[in-house]
Amino acid sequence: MQILQVSAEYFPLLKTGGLADVTGALPRALRPLGCELRTLLPGFAEVLRGLHEPVEVGSCLTPWGQAVRVLRGELRDSGSADDTQGPVAYVADSAALYLRPGGPYETPDKRPHPDNHRRFAALAWVAARLARGLDPSWRPELVHGHDWHAGLVPACLAASGDRHVPSLFTIHNLAYQGLFPRSDYQGLGLPADWFQIEGLEFHGQLSFMKAGLHYADRISTVSPGYAREIQTPEFGCGLDGLLRHRSAVLSGILNGIDDRVWDPRRDAQLQARYDADSLDRRALNKAALQAELGLEPRPELPLFTVVSRLTEQKGLPLVLDGTDALVQRGAQLLLLGSGDSALEAAFQAKAGQHPGRVAVRLGYDEALSHRIFGGGDVALVPSRFEPCGLTQMYGLAYGCVPLVRRVGGLADTVTDADLVTLVDGSATGVVFERMDSADFGHAVQRMLALYRRPADWRQVQQAGMRQPLHWGDAAARYQALYRSMLPGR
Ligand code: ADP
Ligand code: GLC
Repeated sequence: MQILQVSAEYFPLLKTGGLADVTGALPRALRPLGCELRTLLPGFAEVLRGLHEPVEVGSCLTPWGQAVRVLRGELRDSGSADDTQGPVAYVADSAALYLRPGGPYETPDKRPHPDNHRRFAALAWVAARLARGLDPSWRPELVHGHDWHAGLVPACLAASGDRHVPSLFTIHNLAYQGLFPRSDYQGLGLPADWFQIEGLEFHGQLSFMKAGLHYADRISTVSPGYAREIQTPEFGCGLDGLLRHRSAVLSGILNGIDDRVWDPRRDAQLQARYDADSLDRRALNKAALQAELGLEPRPELPLFTVVSRLTEQKGLPLVLDGTDALVQRGAQLLLLGSGDSALEAAFQAKAGQHPGRVAVRLGYDEALSHRIFGGGDVALVPSRFEPCGLTQMYGLAYGCVPLVRRVGGLADTVTDADLVTLVDGSATGVVFERMDSADFGHAVQRMLALYRRPADWRQVQQAGMRQPLHWGDAAARYQALYRSMLPGR
């Protein structure tokens, strides 16, 4: 099968969150199943730098008259052994659209780039051209778009040509919808009468997310739990009605983790590598982490950790409110994150109040995140909503026991430790229900009680590490979904 996936991010080239981890892992996970997944990316500087031996396969003129070169090249991950042949990528190359200061979506002062509608519409038109044979040597049978950045892909496919190329649209996060004023719709090259409720209009605005949900043949999201939740008003972000209407073509496929990148047995970032039978070696990593972050070098104190974007979604005010109690109960807290400036400042203030017990590292640091999972005791993920969540899975794989809220993919991946699950061996973490300090605080106390029972603690760590989290199952599910969309396959 030949599939084109369309994404704004791809690990290791460009990552702002879990989306990149997923799109970076999928091509290799699907390859053994006979699916060739090529990736179309915007020509951001990081992407162009990571593209090996680029050749120009053609060019497109956007409906508003901007020229975009389409490059094809190979994506290679640095440092991995099986890199003889990396996955193939196409890049929509336009300096005017993609080469500029700031992040992929925002200016340096954290405002959306003013022409984001054009930047990601251009990506969708390139996808549609590739689907119609722009590269004579390879033509996708199906196009798979990820998140709002690829939301116009199904619409552009539907608008171009008579041959129907099926499309799958995957929601990684319904909260980011790609909304633009009505006036931005003009000139994007789609029929004027599609700007309506039975189309891509959302409360008077252009919604890239809604376009994906409306025009795609199939919709998926990144956990079965989130697939159910987004059909309710509480989690549906105003799109639950449409999602209920399309529920027959909506499915949830739990993400995996890429064990070429996340495996404590061979993680080059760790001082001591280990597996489920050599967990004592984690003590070396914990000591190194405490030293690196200026935490008291006390092996007996449970080290709670957070690796996260600091946004509304992640529920971190609960951690902030609970920090004093956590310290009083004899724990340490280490946070690595960036985002909301009020949260950044508040966590820094906490670190100032509790020197040696609370450490905060603001910014984005991939290598440190590995050391945190490899040396921390607890991974805190108290999200308000969580489509899948990867950090709790990294915690599971690394024996850094997750404490999560029972929501979305967190509920699908972590089994709460109680008397029953401890006895039958299925416990892998601590799960709490309500988004309030009392419930969170109780979960912290349960985690501390578990930590003080070394045999149970070890069993919970090992159960998490032995939980199958790799991409195998997920890849087979995507393959089955692709196949169901291609009659005759
Ligand atoms: P989301 O995509 O909503 O941010 P996920 O848990 O799916 O949540 O994925 C987050 C990814 O980003 C994980 O790979 C996590 O380790 C990484 N990450 C988040 N914040 C940081 C940070 N400050 N430094 C390094 N990695 C981070
Ligand atoms: C989004 C979600 C996160 C998910 C990731 C990868 O960023 O917020 O829960 O794990 O996408 O699918």
